[in-house]
Amino acid sequence: MLTTQQISEGRRQFLGGGYRLFYQEPLHVVRGEGVWLYDNEGRRYLDAYNNVASVGHCHPAVVDAIATQASQLNTHTRYLNDAIVEFAEDFLTEFPPELRNLTMTCTGSEANDLALRVARQITGGQGVLVTRWAYHGVTSALAELSPSLGEGVEQGKNVWLIDAPDTFRHPGEFAAGVERALDAMKQAGVKPAALLLDTIFSSDGVFSPEPAEMQRAVAWVRAAGGLFIADEVQPGFGRTGSQRWGFARYGVMPDLVSLGKPMGNGHPVAGLVGRPELFAEFGRRQRYFNTFGGNPVSCRAAHAVLQVLRREALQQNAQLTGALLREGLQKLAARYPVIGDVRGDGLFIGVELVSDQRNTPAPERAACVVNAMRRKQILISATGPAANVLKIRPPLVFKPEHAALLLDTLADVLGEMG
Ligand SMILES: Cc1ncc(COP(=O)(O)O)c(C=O)c1O
Repeated sequence: MLTTQQISEGRRQFLGGGYRLFYQEPLHVVRGEGVWLYDNEGRRYLDAYNNVASVGHCHPAVVDAIATQASQLNTHTRYLNDAIVEFAEDFLTEFPPELRNLTMTCTGSEANDLALRVARQITGGQGVLVTRWAYHGVTSALAELSPSLGEGVEQGKNVWLIDAPDTFRHPGEFAAGVERALDAMKQAGVKPAALLLDTIFSSDGVFSPEPAEMQRAVAWVRAAGGLFIADEVQPGFGRTGSQRWGFARYGVMPDLVSLGKPMGNGHPVAGLVGRPELFAEFGRRQRYFNTFGGNPVSCRAAHAVLQVLRREALQQNAQLTGALLREGLQKLAARYPVIGDVRGDGLFIGVELVSDQRNTPAPERAACVVNAMRRKQILISATGPAANVLKIRPPLVFKPEHAALLLDTLADVLGEMG
């Protein structure tokens, strides 16, 4: 086994320059189980950040489903195989009846990329509205729609930036911003293809606007001829507690829903769910073949995740434990003015740190808290345009006792910071 030092040097020497590590003192992990990650020296860390291993690191039911199918057959969607049909039929019962088709991909980026292709083809438009600090994926088309990547995305022909629904600083302004952007698009002679939203606005700083705001925004886009694509890569699969899907909290109906991250609990499986007539029209004009998308091993992994989610009532746990966590964080906010706002739903929580009564963002304090928590063996991170919002987003098997440990440790860290 390589030492921590050898791995760090090997990364520098052999890997491309785009990679980044978490924490001032990076973590060398060798094993995971439930909500725990273990480092190379046997220390265990409470994982309050990983939404991928959503049903718990290395859940035996998922591991077993992958191993069993991998030992029998793994091919692609150009042969008849039962795994994809069994999964799709069961999985689609989780969605409103209007959304009755699934196309499988390997990553959330591929799901969003396909959503864009479908939306552009169906509407004949090119313009896409995304939030000012959005992240939607790694392809060139999506990097253009992901200002948070840091390249300074230019608003222009295809990309129209709107303010995220900032419930802390500018509540109630979201729908009006969408309306203004649509007007500007029209003036510029650009036809809208879609409004593409991460429905928990995770990279923008974790927001859940009023349902009426979202309903108005979606109605404006539809009236202008565009589709609504709900990017559920972050909030999906019960994370927000009250609903299976982030969009359902707002009472809006998407045309297309992109999925990823938690879908395979770490196995790369993702997909796009949508209205059958959209996929039918797309399929009439072109084919879609994704070599690994929808392979039997991935389908068995995703099916096992779904079954665990149901069997272990993890959405309900997200609601219960998330509420306890937010309650504890509110109490800390009353003691420590550095906490300006506590928000989120279920087990997707944002804690905004500020440096004064005018709520000036405090990114250096957020970095300080994240690294101090890591030293005390609790893993969280920070998000938002100013990187001053603590992001707490644990596996859904995170229980009240884990929340209590996180809260006690955070109280210690805030106390030490003074
Ligand atoms: C909201 C959102 N959409 C899409 C993606 C892209 O997913 P993937 O990394 O699986 O391509 C991400 C990944 O972080 C994401 O957060």
